[in-house]
Amino acid sequence: RKITVECPATVANLVCGFDILGMALKDPQDLIEMSVSDQPGIRISHADGYDLPTDPAQNVAGAALLDLMQGVEESVGFDLTITKLIKPGSGLGSSAASSAGAVVAANQLLGNRFSQKDLVRFAMAGEKVASGVKHADNIAPCIMGGITLIRSIFPLDIIQLSAPPMYVTVVHPQIEVRTSDARQILRKEVLLKDAIRQWGNIAGLVAGFLQKDYDLIGRSLEDVIIEPVRSILIPGFDEVKKASREAGALGGGISGSGPSIFMLSREAATAQNISVIMKDVYDSLGIDSKIYVTTLN
Ligand code: HSE
Repeated sequence: RKITVECPATVANLVCGFDILGMALKDPQDLIEMSVSDQPGIRISHADGYDLPTDPAQNVAGAALLDLMQGVEESVGFDLTITKLIKPGSGLGSSAASSAGAVVAANQLLGNRFSQKDLVRFAMAGEKVASGVKHADNIAPCIMGGITLIRSIFPLDIIQLSAPPMYVTVVHPQIEVRTSDARQILRKEVLLKDAIRQWGNIAGLVAGFLQKDYDLIGRSLEDVIIEPVRSILIPGFDEVKKASREAGALGGGISGSGPSIFMLSREAATAQNISVIMKDVYDSLGIDSKIYVTTLN
C-alpha cells in the first residue's frame, strides 16, 4: 500500500514567540509518498532537484522515522519519495515538513497507533539533525494545523489556538540563512525590561488570536529580543516591514530563522498589495525573491 501526504510550510516564532509559537500555511507544501513492507530499513529518494542526504540517520525524515521505529515491535521498513516544494533554508519549516510528513505517513500505514503528541516527539528527532536542537514550533503546527503554542517540550505540552481568518504574505529572498547560524548569533541573556515587553507581547498575541481582536494581534507583533539581532542577516528587512505596515498589514516579521519574511493581513486585497511591495523591495536590491499569498492551514 502506498500513500501520499501533504506536508505544509510553517511560520515559526510568529515574531515574539521564539521557539513557542508557529502556524501552518496552505502553500507551499511538500509531498511524501510512502509504502511500508516487512523488509527492514528506511529507503529514501528525492523527486526534486535538492541535493539532500539519503542516509536515514543524516536525513531529517529518516531520523524521525528511526525514532518512530523504536516504538514498533514488528519488523517493518519504509520506502519513501520526498518531493520538496519548500526550499531548504528558507525559514518556512522545510525540515519540519519532511520529518513531520514522514512520521504522519508512517503512522497511517501502521494503522494510526501513535498519538499526535507521539508524532511531534518523533519528528523532533529530525529537527535535531537539521538545526542541532529539538524544537517543535514548526513540527507541531505542521502536524496539528492552525496555530500552536508549545508551552513546554520536556515534557511536551502543546496547545492549539483558534484565530480569526487571516491572509499571509511571504517573501523568500533567495539568499541562504542557516538555522544553526541564526541561533548561534543570539545573545544568551536578556534584560529584564526586554523580557517584560516580550512576554507582554506574547500574551497579547495569544489573547488577540483567541478573542479575534485584529488590533491587539497587530500591536503584539513586536519582537525586542530576537529580531534586532537576526534582521541584520536579511537585506531589505526594515523596508519590507515598514512598507507592509503602511499598506495595512497587521504586522509580521522574520519567518522562523529567516530569510523569509511574513506579513499577516485581515483582507485578501491587502495581502496582494503587500506581495507587490515585497517584490519591488527585492527587485530594487537586485535579489531574486519568491512570493506566496496564502492563508492558515
Ligand atoms: N524557532 C526556531 C528558530 C525555528 O527561530 O530558530 C527555526 O526554524
